[in-house]
Amino acid sequence: MVKIAPSILSANFSNLKEEITLVDQAGADYIHIDIMDGHYVPNITFGPNIVKTVNQLTDKILDVHLMISPVMSFIENFAKAGADIISFHPEAETEPLKVINLIKKLNCKAGIAIHPNVKISEIENYLNLIDIVVVMTVVPGFEGQIFINDQIAKISFLSNYKNENKLNFEIEVDGGINEKTGRICRENGADVLVAGSYIYNSNSTKYKNIIENLR
Ligand code: DX5
Ligand code: ZN
Repeated sequence: MVKIAPSILSANFSNLKEEITLVDQAGADYIHIDIMDGHYVPNITFGPNIVKTVNQLTDKILDVHLMISPVMSFIENFAKAGADIISFHPEAETEPLKVINLIKKLNCKAGIAIHPNVKISEIENYLNLIDIVVVMTVVPGFEGQIFINDQIAKISFLSNYKNENKLNFEIEVDGGINEKTGRICRENGADVLVAGSYIYNSNSTKYKNIIENLR
C-alpha cells in the first residue's frame, strides 16, 4: 500500500496540535516536515524546535526534509529533536557521504532529495547507501505549486534501478501531489506520496477522506 506523508508546511499553525492529530488519526504514515533556510531555498520555515514539538504531538514517523545549506552542522540537532528520517539535497553540502554516515550513526534513516534540476546520474553513487530517495516534482521552496510532469521519468528509473540492483530504498515523491498526479506517481513506482496543500488547504473535516482517496 502506498504511504501518505502530509506536509505540515500547509497546516494552520495557530492550531498545530489539531492539524497533526487529524492527519495522524486519518492514517498518515509519515509526518513530512519541510525545513527551509532562506539560503538553499528562497523561503524560511522551521528549525529543530518545531520538530521537537511535533514529536510530542504524534508517534508517527517524522520525515524531515532539509532544504538547507550547509547541512552537516544541523543533523545532530534534528536527530535529537526526534527526526526518524532525514533527507537532504546533496548539492547543498560539500561532503554528502559524511552527512549520510552521520544520519545513520544517529540511528535515523537517511534520504537524498533530488531537485528537479539535478540528474539521477549525479546522485546514483548514493543509492546503495540510503533508505529513501525524495523525487521533487516542484522546485523546492513553496507549497501549492504545479506538479512538473517531466520528473516522472526519474520515478520509473529509480523503481527499475531498485529492482535490478536489489536495493531497498523507498521512493518518495514530493510536490504538487493530488489524486491525479499521485496516481501517476504510484503507477511509476512511488512508495510514499507527500501532500501539503492538497490535504491542508481543504476543510479539516475532509482530511480523512482526502488521505483515504489519495491512498
Ligand atoms: C516544497 C516542499 C514540499 C511541499 C509540498 O519545497 O518540499 O514538501 O510542502 O506541498 P504541496 O503538496 O502543496 O506541493
Ligand atoms: Zn518536502
